[in-house]
Order: sequence, then C-alpha cells, then structure tokens
Amino acid sequence: MCGIVGYTGSRQAYPVILKGLKRLEYRGYDSSGVALLKDGKLNVYKKKGKVADLEEAMIGKDIDASIGIGHTRWATHGEPSDRNAHPHSSSNGKLAMIHNGIIENYAQIKQDLVKKGYQFTSDTDTEVLLNFIEDIQKNNDHCSLEEALRIALKRVSGAYCILLIEQDNPDTIIAARKGSPLVIGIGKGEHFLASDASPIIEYTKEVVYVNDYELAIVKPDELILKNLGNEKVTPYITKLDMELAAIEKGGYDHFMLKEIFEQPSTIYDCLRGRLDAKELSIKMSGIDQHVNELMNANRIMILACGTSWHAGLVAEYIIEELCRIPVEVEYASEFRYRNPIVNKGDVIIAISQSGETADTLVALEKAKENGAFIFGVVNAVGSSIARISNAGAYTHAGPEIGVASTKAFTGQLAVLMMLALAIAKHKGTITADRYNNLLLELEGIPEKVEVILKNAGELKKMADKYKNASDFLFLGRGYNFPVALEGALKLKEISYIHAEGYPAAEMKHGPIALVDDQLPVVFIATQDTYHEKIVSNMQEIKARKGRIISIITEGDTVCPTLSDDYFSIPAVDELIAPILTVIPLQLLAYYVGTAKGIDVDKPRNLAKSVTVE
Ligand code: F6R
Repeated sequence: MCGIVGYTGSRQAYPVILKGLKRLEYRGYDSSGVALLKDGKLNVYKKKGKVADLEEAMIGKDIDASIGIGHTRWATHGEPSDRNAHPHSSSNGKLAMIHNGIIENYAQIKQDLVKKGYQFTSDTDTEVLLNFIEDIQKNNDHCSLEEALRIALKRVSGAYCILLIEQDNPDTIIAARKGSPLVIGIGKGEHFLASDASPIIEYTKEVVYVNDYELAIVKPDELILKNLGNEKVTPYITKLDMELAAIEKGGYDHFMLKEIFEQPSTIYDCLRGRLDAKELSIKMSGIDQHVNELMNANRIMILACGTSWHAGLVAEYIIEELCRIPVEVEYASEFRYRNPIVNKGDVIIAISQSGETADTLVALEKAKENGAFIFGVVNAVGSSIARISNAGAYTHAGPEIGVASTKAFTGQLAVLMMLALAIAKHKGTITADRYNNLLLELEGIPEKVEVILKNAGELKKMADKYKNASDFLFLGRGYNFPVALEGALKLKEISYIHAEGYPAAEMKHGPIALVDDQLPVVFIATQDTYHEKIVSNMQEIKARKGRIISIITEGDTVCPTLSDDYFSIPAVDELIAPILTVIPLQLLAYYVGTAKGIDVDKPRNLAKSVTVE
C-alpha cells in the first residue's frame, strides 16, 4: 500500500521519480506527489487522482532538482484529496516526508503537538509524525534530522517506510523502515530508493533490501545503514534477477491480460530445474534441506490472505490426500489476533505473492516466536516474508503488476503441488505409480494452459452476454471449491459485480434462495470424483431457471445439455485441475471488467500490496 520513490545523484530527479511512481502505481493510486530540493528550496507538488493527473498538473512547474522524493497513495488516514496526498511538509517548512504504513499512536502524539500550538493541514498520521520530528529537533538543541528521526521512531508504534528530505541538507535522503518494504539501488554517484525494485531496475541491478528497524542515510556517493541504537550495519548488496521487459505491458492492453497470457511460461519457469520428468524426481533445495521438519510435521498450518489463501485451501486438500498430514488453513489476519495453539513440530506454510502482506508477516512472526518452522511460498524475491521464512520456494512468476493476482496463483499451486509430492514421496504415503503420473501431469500443464488461452475469445463472448448481471454465484466441489472462491473474488474486484463462491453442496443451505432467471451461476464441473454430484447441483439450479455457465472437461456430453454456456478445458488429474480451471475464470473476470470500461489494472479502492493491517 502506497508506493515510494526517492533519488539523489546527478540526474534530474523528477523524471526518475515520475517513472518510478508509474511503476509503483499498483500499490495505490488515489493521489500522488513529489518533493524536489534545489539550492535550499523545497518544492512540494501533489494531486488527487492517478500519477497521470500529477504529471499533467506538473506541466510548467519548476522541476529542476537532482534530489527528490515521490509517493503514490492508498488512503488510510484521511480521504483521497490534494491536501492528504504526500509528501507532507513540516510546520516550519524545512522538512518533507513520504510514508507507507500506519502510525498507530498518532492521535496521542497529535494531541500533544496541538497543545504546543502545532497546526495540521491534513488528516494524515504522516503529518503528525513529521511535526513530531520537527518538535524533537526543536527541543533537542536542533539536533540532526537523523537523530530526531531515531528518537521519534522509538516512540511511535505501527508500520512505516519513510523517506525524508531537509531544506538545509542539499543531497541527503534519510529513510527508515519497519513493516513496509524499502529497496535501495546503488548506482555510480547516485542512489535510488523505492518500495520495490521496479523503479530501479533500468538504472542498476545492485540493490540493498533495508531491514526492519534500520535507518538509511543516503547521499549520491554514500549509503550508511544504522540500527535504531545508532550502530552501523553493513549493507548486504544483492544482484537483481529481473529484466525491464518483465515490468512492461509488452503490447497487451493491460498488465492483467499480459499476466494471464504469461502463465504457460511462468508455470514452466516454476517447474524448470525442479521437476525432472526423465528422472521422475523433484529437486527443490528448500525442501531437500528440510525434509525432516516437513515430513515429520505434526500438523501443517497455512497462513495467507486473499487469493493466496485460496491457494492454501487447494493445498490443504492435496497435502492431506497425498501426505496424510493434518492441515489447517487460516486467514493471517485472524491468526495474528487470536491466541492460536502453535507447537514445536508444527510447520507453517506462508503463501504470498508480494511477500509484504502485513497480516501474513505479523502472523509469521508470532508463529516463529512459538517455535514453528516456516516454509515460505513467495513470489517477490528478497521480500520480507521470504526473509523471515526458515525455508521456502519461490514461485518464479516474475513481477505481478495487475492488482488482481493471476499468474502468482497458478505459480503457488505448482509449488504447493511439488511440495506435497516431495513430502509424500519421503513419507512413503504415495505409490510410485501415483507419484509418477502426477509428476508427468504437472509437467504437461504449461501446454494445456496454452490450449485454454487459444480459446479466450469464447470467454470474451460470454463476458459480453453476462456483463450486466448484478450478481454471480460460483460453485465447485473438492479441489475446485477454492477455485469457485477465487473466480468470485476475481470477478468482484475488477468488475464490481457482487459475486459469491460456495462449495456446490452448500448451495442448498442458503444461497439457492438467490437463484432466479437473472442469476448467472458458474459451475466448475470438470471430470473428477465429484462429477455426478455437481451435475445434480446443476440440475437443481436449472430447475430454478438460473443461467448456467460451466467449466467442463473436453468431451463431457452431459454438462453442455444443462448449461446456457460452457467452456472446455483439457483433461487433467483432479489434484492438478485447479491450475487449469482458474484460468477461464480469470479471463471471464477480465473481459467482464473491461467490457464495463473498468481500469482492471487499478480497480477502485484496492492496492496490490497490502502493507497495512
Ligand atoms: C486478489 C489479490 C489479493 C491478494 C492478497 C494477498 O486478486 O491479489 O487478494 O492475494 O492481498 O496478497 P499477497 O499474496 O501478496 O500476500
């Protein structure tokens, strides 16, 4: 939530920051702004709306500066507006700050500052923190900004990544993080700061991921990292393994469509070097080095949010089936606030695309304190969740920029399937035949995804037909029940149509009351153990005149007779089916959203990386 960019060096800062903000817009897009510093003069410009609105408002403005900070916002405290947009300026006008996160005890600090005569021009917690820093400087013999920030951060609770610049400090950005990400790119005589590497990648591949409770003092030629105790910390330089093309649209209308169509190659990349179809083996260092912890787990708990939580539900079915280990799947946001029972010997699987989801991160910290072993299934390399995990496997889906998660989900399913197969083999809970068959089925998935994508036009037609519905119901059973949840989530987030996902059998316990001749009901009805049962559920909907759309296995002759519309996918083992069945639902949501004229890459109220709770 919220994207931040900073630059100090010899280039013009504004174009670097503007381009960076466009890349980070997926993190929030209700307002944006920049602060530029030149010859002791701080110019702050901000605008409600998308980064393009800021860009337009900047025409003709003084942008000459080689140091600056910029922000694209997802509102927490205070409505989206020009005055609540970042950067904020301190009362004396000497400091400018941007912030990603939430200062939880801002109200108390604000009260104290108001008593001292401070006035506020915004409703944000950020302006409170900034004036608090100004006040500390005033009351501590005008101490350095770095010192004042350190004192302030010891007194605030919450999460932050902040960048600060100061009128009297012509080339220095001071940054700090706790709970919200910060990457610093190291150039020649220049430094780049950002929420993720996408604004940095075209300038340098050498980066430092700043850790929680660290402060960075960044000048063109110098990067100093310190902890809050004012001790220096050695920056650990990492080489970025990412190409610029991965974060550009590459001719597609939207990132979401590009990411859906990338799935044959992202799934292939996820399997590559791990799944060996000739040797019929799976080699994953994160698993191989921790086989004992994994196969001797008393219980596996999966923690995640949103789409990643849906991947966790699929994994629950697969791991229990193949490994015979009890699995619980929890919303990280619930887990972190209750008093969960976590024992030594429990394995936690954390699933996250961004690796920065605040609820998941805090839940993991809690589980780790209780002695659990954490296995991360993460997409963003070097992210906080990847780093807190004891072991893990990256999904290797590449940067996911569209707000609605697509390729990360199928990557998560592929990793979780390999994990389950590897554990089952070590435990001896799977026969050699079953293991080999599943492994080969998994290897063949990218080709089957290609087949589905070739028929995307059919889903576009369906989208045009159903786009004006006010509600949708998604139903599935077994391994495809979580896919029903995911189909409903995708549709509501990018088309704003109310949608619910249900296990098909649960439909009779309530949702069936919604069925009338206007309601589209999407059945995931592929050939599996539950096929006959789901056909009965289709009959029940048909009897009540619901409009049936079904996702079926090619060659199925029954479901088409019950459906108003259907989409066929290649035959596949039922354990792996969710990797395929979700794809038509992603496309259906995409085409409905675009048919309704919605900016599907930046749907209202959402942000890609939920770094606040
Ligand atoms: C939905 C979506 C969200 C995320 C959720 C968790 O399309 O993207 O529901 O899945 O916010 O995010 P990560 O996976 O980054 O932890």
